[in-house]
Amino acid sequence: MTALRFLYDCDPGADDALAMLLALGRPDALDMIAVTCVAGNVGLEPVVSNARRILELCGRQDIPVYSGAARPIMASRGRVSIMHGSDGLAGSTLPAPVTPVATGHAANEISRIARAEGKLHICATGPLTNLALALLLDPELPDFVSAITIMGGAAFCPGNTTPLAEFNFTVDPHAAAIVFDSGIPITMLGLDVTRQATVTGDMIEQVKAIDTPVANEAAHLLINYGSKDPCLHDPAAIAWLLKPEMFDTVQSHISIYTNSGPAAGQVIAAVSERHLAGRLPNCTLVTGVDAEEFRKLFVDAVQEG
Ligand code: RIB
Ligand code: CA
Repeated sequence: MTALRFLYDCDPGADDALAMLLALGRPDALDMIAVTCVAGNVGLEPVVSNARRILELCGRQDIPVYSGAARPIMASRGRVSIMHGSDGLAGSTLPAPVTPVATGHAANEISRIARAEGKLHICATGPLTNLALALLLDPELPDFVSAITIMGGAAFCPGNTTPLAEFNFTVDPHAAAIVFDSGIPITMLGLDVTRQATVTGDMIEQVKAIDTPVANEAAHLLINYGSKDPCLHDPAAIAWLLKPEMFDTVQSHISIYTNSGPAAGQVIAAVSERHLAGRLPNCTLVTGVDAEEFRKLFVDAVQEG
């Protein structure tokens, strides 16, 4: 099996960092060809720094990191997650990065790389601003993207940032709407499934026992981020790429509420024929996961990392 070549758009953030460790621990199955960064959990500069810190920890400074959107398309900034600590990696002791940031804005680079690849798989675990800008700049981009795997949204459960909406879609609801309207095949792993993917004490002990630099950073993130939010949100998107059979899904038409106010970023998920009302599904909505299998997948990958 040849490894899936994919571009990772993210806002590290502790769980984005855990997602990177999962992906980079499985080079047999996944080939992360580029990282694009967006402001989200913390501001753009620490996000770009954290992405490079994690790549350097894994000896993968060969993977280019591109800086992207520092703010949402329309919504006011203002949304910074308190879950990840002021540095974005829950107070990590990783050194500051030495690898230079790659030249080019993330939105332009997404388009350039997709066209160079011919058909690019994108995994996105932050606000979708870079992807939306890329779609606005390059209307033909959908012809060069095979699929987008997204961590974001809350279809049938309460949000985690407002009662109605999840963080990534709350930060930039307009970007989410643009991406879901693109016609590109989308898999959405929202809070419906990521809240099932919990961090356990056994998992932490197994990771600690590996006792390598990668495992020790993973343990730090699992303990310090996990103490505030014990859900493996972003790693779930990578796990989907690795082992989709672990998950339950339903076909759905997803639209995003973009008006300002308490519902901004809310997901409207139509599944039944009546709710679809003649519209075709635009999303594979992930609704469940074998959490034990998922945790084992993560520990095994960190062991390899
Ligand atoms: O709601 C969880 C999502 O928002 C995760 O991607 C986390 O990193 C934050 O970006
Ligand atoms: Ca994220």
